[in-house]
Amino acid sequence: MCGIVGCVLTNRKAAPILLECISKLEYRGYDSVGISTVDENGIHLKKGSGKIKEVDDKIDLGELPGSTGIAHVRWATHGIPSKENSHPHISNEGNISVVHNGIIENFGEIRESLESEGYIFHSQTDTEVIPILIEKYMDKGFNLEDALKKTLKIIKGSYAIGAISKNNPNEIVAARKDSPLIIGVGDKDYFIASDAPAILNYTKNVIYVDNGEIAILNHDGVIVKDSKDNIVDKKINLIEWDAEMAQKEGYDYFMLKEIHEQDSAIKDTLSERDNINEIITEIGNISRICFVACGTSYHASLTGKYLIESMAGIPTDVILASEFKYSANTLNKDTLVIFISQSGETADTLKALKVAKKTSKTLAIVNVLGSSATREADFVIYTRAGPEIGVAATKTYISQLICIYMFAAILANNKKLLDSLDEVPEYISEILAKEGEISEIASKYINVNDFFFIGRGLSYPTALEGALKLKEITYIHGEGYAAGELKHGPLALIDDNVPVVVIVPPGDNYDKTISNLEEVKARGANVIAIGSCADEFIKTEVTDSFCIDENVNEIIAPLIYVVPLQLLSYYISVKRGLDPDKPKNLAKCVTVE
Ligand code: G6P
Repeated sequence: MCGIVGCVLTNRKAAPILLECISKLEYRGYDSVGISTVDENGIHLKKGSGKIKEVDDKIDLGELPGSTGIAHVRWATHGIPSKENSHPHISNEGNISVVHNGIIENFGEIRESLESEGYIFHSQTDTEVIPILIEKYMDKGFNLEDALKKTLKIIKGSYAIGAISKNNPNEIVAARKDSPLIIGVGDKDYFIASDAPAILNYTKNVIYVDNGEIAILNHDGVIVKDSKDNIVDKKINLIEWDAEMAQKEGYDYFMLKEIHEQDSAIKDTLSERDNINEIITEIGNISRICFVACGTSYHASLTGKYLIESMAGIPTDVILASEFKYSANTLNKDTLVIFISQSGETADTLKALKVAKKTSKTLAIVNVLGSSATREADFVIYTRAGPEIGVAATKTYISQLICIYMFAAILANNKKLLDSLDEVPEYISEILAKEGEISEIASKYINVNDFFFIGRGLSYPTALEGALKLKEITYIHGEGYAAGELKHGPLALIDDNVPVVVIVPPGDNYDKTISNLEEVKARGANVIAIGSCADEFIKTEVTDSFCIDENVNEIIAPLIYVVPLQLLSYYISVKRGLDPDKPKNLAKCVTVE
């Protein structure tokens, strides 16, 4: 899990630009950072462990000579976060420098064999074998491109690699297999990056590098070659996101900005309606649907199961991507497997997608344009939420839900539900207009150790998502439970130290949920109820409450009731002095299984 960038510039120093670009990828990893440049005097390097700002304050990362270079932010997989394990990694003679995102699975045996030949390793990383192998081949007379190609034949695993060499001070050679890599084509300036926000300040023209391809960037331009060494005529795509869209725009944290973007994000998501219509027609008859996803995307999928089974009557399963292989042989050609992923790069999800493709029709619901999942699946729906930088998913969850609602409503021919989605942005705006109330509630609960979130039916996935947000960014234990199931165990944990958030929109499940609310109240719990503004009970009978437009019924509630839960976690996190954008131990995009 890491982010890489690289640039070949004309008449400008690379290091300050690399520093700016790599900062935009900090959401991909932030335990260490490094920049390496090259000029006629050789390779230059600065790196260290810690967040980019901390490292930059200490060693001035942008102060390096040369107009060509590479940079890296790391999320450790092999070897602890430390200066030695930070990228870029340098070859023994110091002539080659490499950044890498991914995992080299056979690095142990390669390292042993290189050590027996006398090469010395300075880190515990899998990556370090790459510059050493490249140097070994360059010492035998190969140029950088050919030496990298020979290296790729030896290494197994996943990678996006950027390499520079003392022999070629104006060149980057890059390669990709199962980790994201794009090329930015500017006016006489060329870039590589893990993701577009890194380079949007410099160019919006992007080439998506496919698996098995390598790219050579120098002052003459960019050449991409396939694994058989043929030059590939790559399409240049125009990225519509501008660089400012990837900035905080005055909010303290990306997460808050992204929560506030939810009403407008939904409007863009709704533009996928015609595409979904066409996809459903093209898919034709299906007898079963399987959702496959991780994390927040898994919770969106669970909502899909409730909607599709209740409205369209199609048996629907929801499988965690990391557990998918146990169900794979139950799929057949009449199964539609729907993969939901913000990034489109989650390793577990991609692995499952490759397996499902062999037997079934596959549909990916993805936010990141051109990501791996969109290129693997038979059909694609884009959530169109724009870039999401906060590690905890917020606007992309709502836009995933909107896609699922449109899909289910079209499948079930439920025009009323489809039309009602147009009102969702307004309901969310109403909540955002009174977020101060949530901030006040949050102040009361910053020192508790455990929370429960309960809901019935469609509100159950909302409870799970509320609990996940709390865990992710406040480090308080939060557990989401089906309200009716609480009495079968967890009720034993409830006392006056355990607040319970009850999601209780108006509808068929209302009375039973209120009974469950009474059960926890009777055990001393402080109840925080989220319900309708017409509901007098929640205004008077619980410790804290937040109310939502009375026209929001329990069918569309998942699209709206999750917003106060996002805000509750956000404010608890900030009031505990934490950084909600960068929760410890977590990363935005998990590209390892
Ligand atoms: C990581 C992120 C979560 C996300 C999950 C699935 O764990 O921190 O926010 O829900 O991956 O990611 P995806 O990109 O596949 O939706």
